[in-house]
Amino acid sequence: SIAHVSETQHRTADAEPSRTVDERRGIAALEAWVARIAALTRPDRVVWCDGTRAESDRLTKQLVAEGKLIRLNPEWRPNSFLARSDPDDVARVESRTFICTTRQEDAGPTNNWVAPDAMRAELDGVFAGSMRGRTMYVVPFSMGPLGGRLSQLGVQVTDSAYAVLSMGVMTRMGSRVLDLIEAGEPWVATVHSVGAPLAPGERDVAWPCNPTKYIVQFPETREVWSYGSGYGGNALLAKKCFALRIASAMGREEGWLAEHMLLIKLTDPRGRSYHIAAAFPSACGKTNLAMLRPSVPGWRVETLGDDIAWLRPGEDGRLWGINPEAGFFGVAPGTGESTNATAVETLWGNTIFTNVALRDDGDVWWEGLTDTPPAHLVDWRGEDWTPSSGRPAAHPNSRFTVAAAQCPQMADDWEAPDGVPIDAILFGGRRATNVPLVVEATDWRHGVYIGATISSEKTAASEGTVGELRRDPFAMLPFCGYNMADHWAHWLAIGDALRFDRAPRMFQVNWFRKGADGEFLWPGFGENARVLEWIAGRVAGEAGAVESIIGRLPVVDEFDVDGLDLPDDALEQLFAVDVESWRQEADLTEEFFSGFGSRLPAALATELAALRYRLAAA
Ligand code: PEP
Ligand code: NA
Ligand code: MN
Repeated sequence: SIAHVSETQHRTADAEPSRTVDERRGIAALEAWVARIAALTRPDRVVWCDGTRAESDRLTKQLVAEGKLIRLNPEWRPNSFLARSDPDDVARVESRTFICTTRQEDAGPTNNWVAPDAMRAELDGVFAGSMRGRTMYVVPFSMGPLGGRLSQLGVQVTDSAYAVLSMGVMTRMGSRVLDLIEAGEPWVATVHSVGAPLAPGERDVAWPCNPTKYIVQFPETREVWSYGSGYGGNALLAKKCFALRIASAMGREEGWLAEHMLLIKLTDPRGRSYHIAAAFPSACGKTNLAMLRPSVPGWRVETLGDDIAWLRPGEDGRLWGINPEAGFFGVAPGTGESTNATAVETLWGNTIFTNVALRDDGDVWWEGLTDTPPAHLVDWRGEDWTPSSGRPAAHPNSRFTVAAAQCPQMADDWEAPDGVPIDAILFGGRRATNVPLVVEATDWRHGVYIGATISSEKTAASEGTVGELRRDPFAMLPFCGYNMADHWAHWLAIGDALRFDRAPRMFQVNWFRKGADGEFLWPGFGENARVLEWIAGRVAGEAGAVESIIGRLPVVDEFDVDGLDLPDDALEQLFAVDVESWRQEADLTEEFFSGFGSRLPAALATELAALRYRLAAA
């Protein structure tokens, strides 16, 4: 009784699957591919998704009837739903994420690698009959505006209706994509199964999944195979698997970049706009910065994206970028009126929540949404909860899935088909020591060095000592689809393709530096606009800087702290450059770089040597 969908009969699998990108062109090739996946996974039926509101309404109704979604009280949260996952399927599984390239060194030392043939043989067994008793949905999608210059197409087949709904929010999904495929546009092939076939008459569970998981990328043939998980990062294959892992490898071949970056438009009091891309490791406040409300009068931030940016040099010598996604898959806890009021407004309705807590009035709650928790909740596992329960009510990685268009602060150019020109690139980590609030790279090569050395402190360090560092180069550690050192070389090559006077300026930022008393020196959130103000001033050629051994620092007396009540010498501490601890930092960087052997670009070894030279002279 499903309207607007065509059902295809299973066909016999072709003798040899088409596994080159060029064989996957046109609708006939797509149909043959779908038939082959169906022949392998044996679903009861195949449904082609059209991306209409009628379709998502049918799916939500069906999932509510099956007990897989809870409809929230429409009075508080119209057309919104709560999903509770299996307690063991709540996050990405990096240990089960594989990059399968012919040569191991092409995956590099930071990825799990298995040879493509061996992995294909294993997956053939894993996926055989994995969709029995279920529906296989065919989900055509575009990353980026349909037909846009920087956009790319994909198709996901999945046996999860929750994944279909979420993909409908996170991408431009549906029949219009098939027109582009028919016209011969290439597409990335992605296969997803929760790995929980149903025997005839067997009752389904609320969140089917499998304890054994595979998140497999084949960059050479532009395919993703994901098994065993229904969770976002593992199951919405357009996002991390395609738009970062596969797309990064595509970009390397084709001269562009797929990066783990937010994208914003900053407007100064004179009405001049700047587009800024920023890479931060997970859990460093990317979504908050993407939706910032500046504390500084006259400044405005508008949102283009909160997680992924695709960047390409234009004929004009500038770097152009898009957010390839159409929605936000954000962490709920810590999102509240005082930290991210824009996100709270965005979530007024039409939202899928996963693993947050349920209020007695049929609305949702999570830690940080309000200062005072409700007196009673049903927690993310479906159990009664009170503030004295001694455990979080929402899972710490609970999520919201919502259309970007619903964000009241989206920039007017967020869907520009050619993208927007990038004026500045920021790299941030979570550093208690050493790294100043903001420092400007002296040139593109120095900026690439800063991106390559992004790190967060694992342990609280004592003053003058750098703590143990967790490295997350370009915030791409779990997401780079090829050798990380080659990624750095590719960034250097992209710099060569830009006009030196039109390339984005690059900056390192750190909201998390602590004083000798162990307290944060900087209030963060809306006050981070003061850092953006200096960055815009640098781009406009209006803000001064002082040279230091680690790059260009703001002139402390000129840095805008009007109306901000900072502790005595907080600014001096925020911008302090301690020679001894930067020597330690250089030693740690050398050790980190040595893990990449001869793949390390010579330019980065030169940058490190230059830093040591400046330290020796200091
Ligand atoms: C995810 O885990 O699905 C995800 C979007 O990752 P993160 O928020 O860590 O970037
Ligand atoms: Na995650
Ligand atoms: Mn992310």
